Amino acid sequence: MKVTAKCCNLLFITTSFLLFISGLGVHSLDYDYFATIECMKEPQRAQYGGGIIVNSGFDHNIEGWTVFGNGTIEERISNDGNRFIVASKRTQSLDSFSQTVQLEKGLIYTFSAWLQLSEGSDTISVVFKTNGSDQLVHGGHVIAKHGCWSLLKGGIVANFSSPAEILFESNNSSVEIWADSVSLQPFTKKEWRSHQDNNIERVRKSRVRFHVSNVNETALEGATVVITQTKADFPFGCGMNHHILTNIDYQEWFVSRFKYTTFTNEMKWYSTEIIPGQENYTISDAMLEFAKDNGISVRGHNIFWDDEKYQPEWVKYLSPDELRKAAKKRIESVVKRYKGELIAWDVVNENVHFHFYEDKLGENASELYYLKAHELDPETKLFMNEYNTIEYSGDKVVSPPNYLKKLEEIMQSGEATEILFAIGLQGHFASGQPNLAYMRSGLDFLGNIGFPIWLTEASLDPQPNQAEYFEEVLREAYSHPAVEGIIMFAGPAQAGFNSTLLADTNFQTTPTGQVVDNLILEWGSGPYTAIADSRGIVDISLHHGDYDVTFTHPLTQNSKKLNISVRKGFSQENIHVKMHA
Ligand SMILES: *[C@@H]1O[C@H](CO)[C@@H](O)[C@H](O)[C@H]1NC(C)=O
Ligand SMILES: *[C@@H]1O[C@H](CO)[C@@H](O)[C@H](O)[C@H]1NC(C)=O
Ligand SMILES: *[C@@H]1O[C@H](CO)[C@@H](O)[C@H](O)[C@H]1NC(C)=O
Ligand SMILES: *[C@@H]1O[C@H](CO)[C@@H](O)[C@H](O)[C@H]1NC(C)=O
Ligand SMILES: *[C@@H]1O[C@H](CO)[C@@H](O)[C@H](O)[C@H]1NC(C)=O
Ligand SMILES: *[C@@H]1O[C@H](CO)[C@@H](O)[C@H](O)[C@H]1NC(C)=O
Ligand SMILES: *[C@@H]1O[C@H](CO)[C@@H](O)[C@H](O)[C@H]1NC(C)=O
Ligand SMILES: *[C@@H]1O[C@H](CO)[C@@H](O)[C@H](O)[C@H]1NC(C)=O
Ligand SMILES: *[C@@H]1O[C@H](CO)[C@@H](O)[C@H](O)[C@H]1NC(C)=O
Ligand SMILES: *[C@@H]1O[C@H](CO)[C@@H](O)[C@H](O)[C@H]1NC(C)=O
Repeated sequence: MKVTAKCCNLLFITTSFLLFISGLGVHSLDYDYFATIECMKEPQRAQYGGGIIVNSGFDHNIEGWTVFGNGTIEERISNDGNRFIVASKRTQSLDSFSQTVQLEKGLIYTFSAWLQLSEGSDTISVVFKTNGSDQLVHGGHVIAKHGCWSLLKGGIVANFSSPAEILFESNNSSVEIWADSVSLQPFTKKEWRSHQDNNIERVRKSRVRFHVSNVNETALEGATVVITQTKADFPFGCGMNHHILTNIDYQEWFVSRFKYTTFTNEMKWYSTEIIPGQENYTISDAMLEFAKDNGISVRGHNIFWDDEKYQPEWVKYLSPDELRKAAKKRIESVVKRYKGELIAWDVVNENVHFHFYEDKLGENASELYYLKAHELDPETKLFMNEYNTIEYSGDKVVSPPNYLKKLEEIMQSGEATEILFAIGLQGHFASGQPNLAYMRSGLDFLGNIGFPIWLTEASLDPQPNQAEYFEEVLREAYSHPAVEGIIMFAGPAQAGFNSTLLADTNFQTTPTGQVVDNLILEWGSGPYTAIADSRGIVDISLHHGDYDVTFTHPLTQNSKKLNISVRKGFSQENIHVKMHA
């Protein structure tokens, strides 16, 4: 294990520190934004000192580690004296080294390891093999290379107590797997939540100090300060569909809650051009009008969808040349129509999972359409938009490293440097406990690229714990510094939402709807009432946004109003108010 880091990579953000409250052995993840997308000359130290992994840095040869499958394992020492483990003479993709740990039900485990291959470049996954089960649970993926160390981050949420073998998978069994600084650190849900809360305090809020004084500048003790949010900075929105045009209750429900939306289907090609050559934007135009009238910002969803299934029926059968023409007409039509009116475009939806356009038009299809969209609407953010990247560790195809690989393909040409790229992660969670450790590791990894990340379609399948699990997902996103917006694909039964239902057929709020309403309040509005102390001071920490503040004199009840904006980037704002008696 390397003791000092040699790296000086700007992309490497390591403010991670571990606090051991001495004597108690209590650990806290005070701030853990530890990730890199770069391949490093030397591995870093094991996160959390290796956590529950024995001999995490291989300072004691291979003690604690055994061969998994065929092959041999051994310790090796680099020229610089760094010790690491090697699995060689492999014949199967799972042949590697393993260590057995005890997983405890209900705990969240963060995993990390530095990995390298003896040749070439390939995906390495960490796999948890639980006792008594042949089920292999993937915990994370990295594209490892020869010649430098790559950080794999991920994790697992244990829904049962059991021993588990931790092992590594790489398809090319003719190459060796090398590892160092392996770490598995358990957290209780309470610890995880407290870390989220700390992060929210740091990332989404700022401290404000009001000084209330008399005109002669002496402190005005006892003044009442009422603080009401008028606009939240953080976009927390909800998908919307055509029922909004006709259902008054749905309109009221929506407008009283949300300022950001995505039309779930109405702007898609299969909705606007059912018959070739007959474009019809009636519904999408009307929805945009409704949104504008109500001060709601709209994400454009989507120009193209790379899944063959979701083409307009007639598009599926076009020859490459016909498709190229039809697609050119489509992108020009929809982007010119809504140019400057939307806050985002999902340009080629789900192009990590699928490649309809690449198959028909060539490898560069996505790249060409991002360039075209940018040319037509240069001020609007252009998103990739994919599912399972943060929600399901078993879907390797769309792992965070593979998402980045596709993004890099799109960015390859010089012209692409002008594009306002953004990272769209749908966030459709299935049933079972969400794997918050994997979700966070994906956000950390993609966050390092430096583009804004949005959860674009957050949802969670119906299940008894839906409300609790959905809250966990929303808090995880809101607390992550790289996330700049959340749109849910959820809504009331009357609008046909049947997965993440927020209001029942009578517009009664469901338990999951209550979670959403509570978060809107918690992250937003107030009002908060405070009384100035003997120094005339009120200290408060406010979520970023715009506020109306009313000060009332304790004796005369005279009042004074002020509008303030609480923005990211200052640690404390001082606001001085003088009041006449
Ligand atoms: C070891 O390799 C042999 C031959 O490739 C294979 O049949 C066997 O299943 C392997 N054993 C394990 C545990 O992978
Ligand atoms: C396995 O890796 C080696 C070394 O990089 C490479 O030459 C070989 O083509 C790879 N095999 C497969 C099946 O990808
Ligand atoms: C799990 O491992 C223990 C020993 O550690 C063994 O007694 C038990 O039978 C195994 N299987 C299951 C399903 O728990
Ligand atoms: C635990 O989670 C796995 C994977 O999501 C699932 O297949 C299994 O049924 C769950 N087990 C329990 C006891 O909930
Ligand atoms: C190995 O190949 C199989 C079959 O192609 C694939 O399902 C699996 O995801 C691959 N594993 C890795 C680590 O790339
Ligand atoms: C300042 O003004 C307040 C309210 O008018 C008054 O009660 C107080 O005595 C004044 N103090 C000084 C030092 O002038
Ligand atoms: C366009 O769509 C609207 C709404 O579905 C429909 O009422 C109208 O008839 C359509 N227009 C044409 C020309 O098909
Ligand atoms: C794809 O893009 C690359 C780099 O911009 C370029 O070299 C290549 O010719 C393009 N291929 C096609 C088929 O357009
Ligand atoms: C939920 O809604 C979708 C889309 O409207 C529909 O395809 C699906 O059948 C519905 N599922 C249930 C269980 O009603
Ligand atoms: C504060 O902002 C509100 C709108 O949020 C506006 O109606 C009001 O006039 C503003 N008040 C002041 C004092 O600027």
